[in-house]
Amino acid sequence: MSRFRMEDGWKLSYIVMERNLLCFILFTLFSFVITSFIDHNGTHHYTYCVLGAGPAGLQMAHFLSKAGRDYIVLERNSGPGSFFNKYPRHRKLISINKIHTGRRNREFNLRHDWNSLLSDKPDLLFRRVSAEFYPPADAFPLYLSMFVKELDLRVRYGVDIGRIRSVQSASRRSYILTDQHASEYTCSVLLVATGLWVPQKVQFIGSDLVEGYESISTNPEDYRDQAVLILGKGNSAFETAQSILGSASLVHMLSSSPVRLAWQTHYVGDLRAVNNELIDTYQLKSLSGLVEAPLEKIVIAERKEQGRRRPDGKKEGRGKLYLTLKKYTLNKNDPSSGDVTREELPGYHIDNFPMRKPYDRVIRCLGFRFNFSIFDRSACPPRSENAKGRLPEVTAWYEGRNSPGLFVLGTAAHSRDYRASAGGFIHGFRYTARAVHRVLEHRYHGNRWLSTRLPTTQLLSWILRRVGEASGPYQMFELLGDVILLRGSHCEYVEEFLVQALPHFTSLSGHEVSSHGLIVVVMQYGKKKIDYLGRGRAETDWTRAWQSNFLHPVLYYYKTLPTEEEMKRRPQGWPLPRPEAIHHMVEDFLTEWDGPMSHVQPLRRFLEHCIQTDLRAFYAESCFHAALTHRKPPLFCQQGYLNQQGVPRNNQLWERVHNAGLTPAEQGATGTTGANSAFPHYLAPAGAAVSSGLKLDF
Ligand SMILES: *[C@@H]1O[C@H](CO)[C@@H](O)[C@H](O)[C@H]1NC(C)=O
Repeated sequence: MSRFRMEDGWKLSYIVMERNLLCFILFTLFSFVITSFIDHNGTHHYTYCVLGAGPAGLQMAHFLSKAGRDYIVLERNSGPGSFFNKYPRHRKLISINKIHTGRRNREFNLRHDWNSLLSDKPDLLFRRVSAEFYPPADAFPLYLSMFVKELDLRVRYGVDIGRIRSVQSASRRSYILTDQHASEYTCSVLLVATGLWVPQKVQFIGSDLVEGYESISTNPEDYRDQAVLILGKGNSAFETAQSILGSASLVHMLSSSPVRLAWQTHYVGDLRAVNNELIDTYQLKSLSGLVEAPLEKIVIAERKEQGRRRPDGKKEGRGKLYLTLKKYTLNKNDPSSGDVTREELPGYHIDNFPMRKPYDRVIRCLGFRFNFSIFDRSACPPRSENAKGRLPEVTAWYEGRNSPGLFVLGTAAHSRDYRASAGGFIHGFRYTARAVHRVLEHRYHGNRWLSTRLPTTQLLSWILRRVGEASGPYQMFELLGDVILLRGSHCEYVEEFLVQALPHFTSLSGHEVSSHGLIVVVMQYGKKKIDYLGRGRAETDWTRAWQSNFLHPVLYYYKTLPTEEEMKRRPQGWPLPRPEAIHHMVEDFLTEWDGPMSHVQPLRRFLEHCIQTDLRAFYAESCFHAALTHRKPPLFCQQGYLNQQGVPRNNQLWERVHNAGLTPAEQGATGTTGANSAFPHYLAPAGAAVSSGLKLDF
């Protein structure tokens, strides 16, 4: 019975493999034939077209270039990162540029460098263009130019793609891009990294009287003694408010939801402390204020006041702007008639209405949306519900839904982790671009996802190293995780997989999951709403590690890959479905997770539980003893001592262990047999035995 099933399984995977192989060969043939040439119609052909030379497009270009692929980056402006030539309007980036960390580890340092892109050049870092913690916006295009030049990336500037359509032939699909001169580019794979350029607007009566963030004056003098109403409570709104706090007479901010502080939500897209001076002036009652109301229900009306003159004697050019509500207006359906009567103003109905006084200016700062209009029907990805329709909907591996071969990168790909992780920001999407590139390498070139084969006895140390330094899972918490494929005496360590795509792990990565199961390591914040600066905000006791509130590693052990269905029904707020076993490593104030008792030992015990084996490290003497007394000595002895490897317990080494105070006093000089011979006395209270993760730095 079981033999038949086995065989069926083999046959199936053989067929699947054969199909994959065929696709791969066909694709390789095609890309070989059509590789970057210009045909007689003047059409350019490429395997990969990257649309946009911003941070996401250039990050992908680097990976394509490194892999030796046929690609081109198409950019409508004359230089890279043109968004940053204009935005943020007040010219200060809020992505932190932390140059000093006290560490030399490049990987670790990327945890605190939010602007650099990934490359193999150790000095191709943002710090070369700015030393400021919140750098000037102009530094960013400068950095990108440097990135393009030093990595010799192929970028074509001044190509404004206005139309994208897809054509499907019998065997394959390709994308055809048309630029402003009607030149065409044909691409087998299209990587859309256009960013977000279209200002987000809300329609209400009088919305045409409102100025937009994209075109307001950034000179504070222009706001002198003016009453200003800002629509929106995100970073662009607060940045605008902050710049005029000293010149405006009052600043009010209005949007439908209360302000969300990044340091409370752990979401960097929420209001950052660098922009929040207005909150002080609100709470200290200094003529600033925050109000909530749905913007669809407001009316902005202009009312010219008769006979009013400005202090300098000139006649007032423009009337005051009054805010009222739709329900108070009489001709509700005529948005063009701005003039309102006194009875239509809210102050007439509610005498203490907060916004009863008129404003000199109303400014809209509601963020940006993806430009869907570049796509023809045949190539347009649908709008994601997740981000209020502002972003395209993509699969867990960033391929457009209904548009195979079209991938979305960068800010526009944020619908997968909207308001959850860092995928909408440079320090997050630089890693997702790398993950997407690995998907491409496997699908189109047959290269399996990069992995490391480890003896299982080294797994603990690897996990400790990764949680101590890895920047990808740290920045893209809950989205990118290391997948460990257990294989008995060894395991396959796959870094930074897209955890939402876990059900498709095998087809995306090319790695099989064995009957030993798998472990996924992700970083997570706690989900409880707590007083983030109050007492008891941090958990320090490892036995309550699951109650950690700050970022900490969590390990999920599965016997088989979770299915798409299980993924959909996962508990709310969880990045993954309920596993066979779960382990939280208690949050750490220094984010180093190297405490022998609080981090290392509980992790080892968890791994031992999943792998069903002893993962401790032993001296040769103990292995010798175990080899004589056990049918299956510990794995460490099997892979080391019994293979004639490992450290014999010589006197010199033992003396140093002794001098370091790591041996129990009464056993010191003579030593004892068994695992106890290296039993550090400080582990005794926890009933611990030797831990292979102990850092004995001699
Ligand atoms: C959006 O795309 C259309 C079509 O290519 C273009 O005309 C328009 O300028 C774009 N909008 C922005 C804000 O870039």
